Amino acid sequence: MVTRVVDLRSDTVTKPTEAMRAAMASAEVGDDVLGNDPTAFHLEAEMAKIMGKEAALFVPSGTMGNLISVLTHCDIRGSEVILGDKCHIHIYENGGIATIGGVHPRPVKNNDDGTMDIDLIEAAIRDPRREIVYPTTRLICLENTHANSGGRCLSAEYTDRVGEVAKKHGLKLHIDGARIFNASVALGVPVDRLVRAADSVSVCISKGLGAPVGSVIVGSKSFITKARRLRKTLGGGMRQVGILCAAGLVALQDNVGKLENDHKKARTLADGLNQIKGLRVDGPVETNIVYIEIEEGSHTNAGKICKELEDRGILLMRESLSRLRVVFHHQISASDVQYTLSCFQQAVKGVQTENGN
Ligand SMILES: Cc1ncc(COP(=O)(O)O)c(C=O)c1O
Repeated sequence: MVTRVVDLRSDTVTKPTEAMRAAMASAEVGDDVLGNDPTAFHLEAEMAKIMGKEAALFVPSGTMGNLISVLTHCDIRGSEVILGDKCHIHIYENGGIATIGGVHPRPVKNNDDGTMDIDLIEAAIRDPRREIVYPTTRLICLENTHANSGGRCLSAEYTDRVGEVAKKHGLKLHIDGARIFNASVALGVPVDRLVRAADSVSVCISKGLGAPVGSVIVGSKSFITKARRLRKTLGGGMRQVGILCAAGLVALQDNVGKLENDHKKARTLADGLNQIKGLRVDGPVETNIVYIEIEEGSHTNAGKICKELEDRGILLMRESLSRLRVVFHHQISASDVQYTLSCFQQAVKGVQTENGN
């Protein structure tokens, strides 16, 4: 029987802290759709201030945050958005921008560090003189940190350069900042500086920040006014939502400071895994995400390792036959990291011995 569980599937799996539960229990609430939930206002005002934007809006999820942002910028059907071919919006959000918003995605190759080459972005912008055949480019989306690239951080300078291209062509810039605080902590750059060039940012509070539910989108007052209406259209207007926002306020206050430790734990695991024959960590570990490649000829695969680890209470994500993903959060301890490493050693050795290696 498994006595210890180490859940490394995602940073979304955290349970609310005692402080969050207490804040939720005593939150002052109103009807947010009618515009008078004081705790929702408080969280939105706080997030807008931290991100250096005029206004903010609490939404139920990162997916809805991105959808509302893209649709608010691209409010004419047949608009086109330039985004990375490995970004979350393009791959994991059910194609909602197209199916719900009539927005056409124009994917550009993501480099290993999560960037897209600036010249490729510029080349992907449609020539408005050929609008008889082309959709109209209206938006560029970045993702920081870039999850599929292993939690790599986009620098403020890179983001500024993309912002300049957007401005030059009359486009808007949206950042999927699900883990923007991880980027800020890892780069040592204030979060408002990282997103200065962006017209909107969607920030998850239920990932590394550990709140149970929600994201907050930020932007100009007029952007947020339109976004609020669209949130209602999508069924995302929530009445006594201050209950959830109260946990978000605790997350901002208590948990941003814990991210650095999550990054350290990720690096410790990565260093240990790189010592195990047959395993290789993919790319530098900058934040809380670690991708593990199972090397060819190692006589095991991601499914077998997952199963072996699961039997020992360690949960992680299988990305493909040869690739695993581990994500750190504040409820993983240093001893969990050592336990995970020793279980990896046993799991890989067990399979290799079985195969006579
Ligand atoms: C980079 C990124 N953006 C957006 C999302 C969507 O967030 P949610 O699961 O809250 O819809 C995720 C979720 O994992 C993510 O990793």
